[in-house]
Amino acid sequence: MMNFPNKQGTLDVRGRSVLFALIGLLISKASAQAAETAAGPEGELSSLRLRLNSMMHRYRLLCDHYASLAPNCSATVFNCTECPEGWLHVADKCYFLGPDKMVWSKGTDTCTEMGSHLAILHTKEQHEALEKEAIRVGGFNSYYWIGLTDRENEDQWRWVDNTTLHTTQYWNELYKQPDNNNSSGVEGEDCVVLDSHSQTWYDVPCFFIYPPICQMDAIQLH
Ligand SMILES: *[C@@H]1O[C@H](CO)[C@@H](O)[C@H](O)[C@H]1NC(C)=O
Ligand SMILES: *[C@@H]1O[C@H](CO)[C@@H](O)[C@H](O)[C@H]1NC(C)=O
Ligand SMILES: *[C@@H]1O[C@H](CO)[C@@H](O)[C@H](O)[C@H]1NC(C)=O
Ligand SMILES: *[C@@H]1O[C@H](CO)[C@@H](O)[C@H](O)[C@H]1NC(C)=O
Ligand SMILES: *[C@@H]1O[C@H](CO)[C@@H](O)[C@H](O)[C@H]1NC(C)=O
Repeated sequence: MMNFPNKQGTLDVRGRSVLFALIGLLISKASAQAAETAAGPEGELSSLRLRLNSMMHRYRLLCDHYASLAPNCSATVFNCTECPEGWLHVADKCYFLGPDKMVWSKGTDTCTEMGSHLAILHTKEQHEALEKEAIRVGGFNSYYWIGLTDRENEDQWRWVDNTTLHTTQYWNELYKQPDNNNSSGVEGEDCVVLDSHSQTWYDVPCFFIYPPICQMDAIQLH
C-alpha cells in the first residue's frame, strides 16, 4: 500500500502523455479529412482551426473534470499542464530532447509516435531556449537532430512541415556550414544538428546517430 499513490501518479502522467498523443492523432486525422473536403488551402486552414479549437476546448473540459475528482481521490491528482510531463515549455511550443541516439529518419518516427515532430526553429527565442536546454540535458559538445533537411533537393533546406528556412539561421560560420562534406559518403550531408557547444547548426550525414529534439504545440489552458 505504501507505494500506491506513487503508482497512481505514474499512471496519471502516462495517461496525460496518451492524451497528448491522442490529440496529435486527432489533429492529423482532421487534417487528412479537411484536405479531402475543403475547397482549397484557405478552406482547409479555417476548417483545421475550427477543429483544433474544439479539440482544445474538450481538453480543457476534461482537465476540469479530472481536477474535480481530486477531493474523492486518495492518490495525488496532478494538474493539467500546457505541455506533457518532462517537456520544455517555450512560448506556445513544447520540446522534448530525447535521450536515445538514432538516425535522422528514426528521429522523425520517434517524434511522430509521441504526437510530435522534429523541432522547427523559426524564432531566435526558440533557438536560444533549445541551445540552453541542450547544454543542461546533454552538456557541452552534444548534438541533437532538428527537423531541417535538404534530402529532397540539394541546397533547398526545408523544415519537416515543408516550410522553407526563414532568414533566422544559425549555421556554424566558422566551419562554413552547411558544406555537404562528402567524406563520409557520396550522399553528402543532408540532415541538420544543433551543437550545444558552439550554439550553431551543422549539416551531417542523415545516417549519423544523435538524439532528436521533438516539438508539439502547447495546449493553452486558459
Ligand atoms: C465525491 O464523493 C461525494 C460523496 O460520495 C459525491 O457526492 C460526489 O459527487 C463525488 N464527486 C465526484 C466529482 O465524483
Ligand atoms: C494544482 O493547482 C492548484 C491550484 O492552482 C494547487 O493548489 C495545487 O497544489 C496543484 N497541485 C499539484 C499536484 O501541483
Ligand atoms: C514541398 O514544397 C515543394 C515546393 O513548394 C514541393 O515541390 C514539394 O513537393 C513539397 N514536398 C512535400 C513533401 O510536400
Ligand atoms: C570533411 O570531413 C572530414 C572528416 O570529418 C574532415 O577531415 C574534412 O576536413 C572535412 N572537409 C571540410 C572541407 O571541412
Ligand atoms: C566530393 O566532393 C568533391 C568536391 O565537391 C568532388 O570532387 C568529389 O568527387 C566528391 N567525392 C565523392 C565521393 O562524391
